[in-house]
Order: sequence, then C-alpha cells, then structure tokens
Amino acid sequence: MLVTKTIAETWTLLDAARAQGKSIGMVPTMGFLHAGHASLIKASAADNDVTLTTIFVNPLQFSADEDLSDYPRDLARDLEICEQAGATIVLTPVVEEMYPQPIITSVTVSELGESMEGAQRPTHFAGVTTVVSKLFNIGGQCRAYFGEKDYQQLAIVRRMASDLSFPVEIVGCPIVREENGLAMSSRNTYLSPEQFVAASVLQRSLRSAVDLALGGEHDAATIRAHITSMIATEPLVSEPDYVAIVDAASLEPLDNLSGEVRIILAAQVGRPRLLDNIGLTIR
Ligand code: PAJ
Repeated sequence: MLVTKTIAETWTLLDAARAQGKSIGMVPTMGFLHAGHASLIKASAADNDVTLTTIFVNPLQFSADEDLSDYPRDLARDLEICEQAGATIVLTPVVEEMYPQPIITSVTVSELGESMEGAQRPTHFAGVTTVVSKLFNIGGQCRAYFGEKDYQQLAIVRRMASDLSFPVEIVGCPIVREENGLAMSSRNTYLSPEQFVAASVLQRSLRSAVDLALGGEHDAATIRAHITSMIATEPLVSEPDYVAIVDAASLEPLDNLSGEVRIILAAQVGRPRLLDNIGLTIR
C-alpha cells in the first residue's frame, strides 16, 4: 500500500495503473475509520484492480460552529484499517494541498441538497460536493464507493456525477451497524456508554416503522408520529431534527408510501447529531 500526500503523485500512480489496463475504485473518507468505511474499501477492492482511499477532513463542509478542530483523527490506525481492507493507494493531503488559495469555486446541487441535512446545515452539502468534485478529478475514470449511511449525500453525489458528466460510476453500499443496531459513525466516539445504548432507539424506531408500513399503514404522517413517539421514550435522545419519508431516488417527500421509499432521520444524542435511515418497497 502506498501513502501519498500530493495530488500530482496520485495522478502519476493512477495514470500508470490505467496505462496497464487496471480498473480503479475510490473511497473518499474523512478518516477515523471504522468497519463502515472498511466495508467500502473491501467492496472497491473486490471490484477493481486498484483502490484509492482518500483521508481528508474537509473544512468546507463544516460551519463555523461545528466540530472541525476536534473532529476525531488517528492516521496510524486509519492506515492499518486501509491496508487490512485492501486499499492500494491512500491519499492523505494537508489542507494547503487541497486548498492552496482561498477557494472561490463551488459546486452545488440544488433541490436535493436543500431538505433534511441541507436545511439543518445550509453550507454543508456545497462543501461536500465541491470537495468530492476535486476528489473525482484526482481519481479520474473510476468507480466511487459511498455509504447509504449518509443517504442524502449519496443521492446528491450520484446526481452531481450525472449532471456534470464525471467519468465516475457511483456505487452505494449498505449501512454497517454496531451489535446494538446503531449505525457506525466516527462521531459515535463522543457517546457515553449510556448514550450509546440509548442511541439504538433510532434503528429500532425505523425497523418498527417498516413493520407498520409492511403491515398496511401507508400514511406518512402516522408513520412519522410512530417513530417520534418511540424515540421520545429514550430521555437521552433528543426530539429528532427531522423524520423524512421520501422517494428513494428523488428524495421528494411522500404523503403516502408507495414504490421505493426511504425513511431518514437525524437526532442529537448528547454531543453528536446522529443520522440513520432505512429502505422499503411498497407495491
Ligand atoms: P465520512 O463521514 O468519513 O464517510 C466516508 C464514507 O463512509 C461515506 O460514503 C459514508 O457514507 C460512509 N460510511 C460512514 N459510516 C458508514 C456506515 N456505518 N456504513 C456504511 N458506510 C458508512 O462522508 C464523508 O466522510 C464526507 O462527506 C466525504 C464524502 C468524504 C467528503 O468529505
């Protein structure tokens, strides 16, 4: 496994691989890797000859009052996880390499980026799509692996790649969970043991909502109320910031569940805001 710090070096390595006819997969991350990230690296390593993992805590996607400076970091451990999962190249650029001058170019995906996380964090997705555009220009023609854990991000990146003709095939990968059902996240490190236990109510409420829907309840407001009331039984979990029931592809809110549906929520548990979601099909 090769560790690079510069964009130029990464281009050289990938150009050489492509000249030999090798296929390339890439896995963008912000580090502090866990089994969820490792699953993306493994999926890429299974599909491609070369897997580029990028580790970059992207300042653009944090607002002034968010946790940029104390976002958890552990590069030595991250590199071990990358190697074990099958990464061949890891790019770990410093901020000055990615943004040598104040960046005045921005990529935004309207509509898809305005609801849910976009409504809570107005500058967040422009930061994500701008850095992912840069990473796609570094990766070149490739497959890129993203987790369904950040479902709205995945939908936005898919649309961006299509709208802007990036030579990148986006591959969505399932959510990896802790034993208690909590979706793995770098921010889970902020949870106390009690909060960690309590946070599993997010996943339980989503599963229970799916049972209700598959049992015939298709009214979105009723399903949302069911989820909110289950979460309210856990005093350590805040009232959700949102519980959205949307079309899985367009992210349009649904009044009645039909077709491919995604239920997406966010709630504060102690310090971190946690995201979770679940998919279901109503025929
Ligand atoms: P980060 O939060 O580090 O996540 C990197 C990738 O890992 C994302 O595609 C995310 O959806 C995926 N991931 C995280 N937890 C997961 C889990 N429990 N199961 C499956 N996949 C999981 O998302 C970002 O970084 C950034 O916004 C980034 C795209 C790198 C741009 O800066």
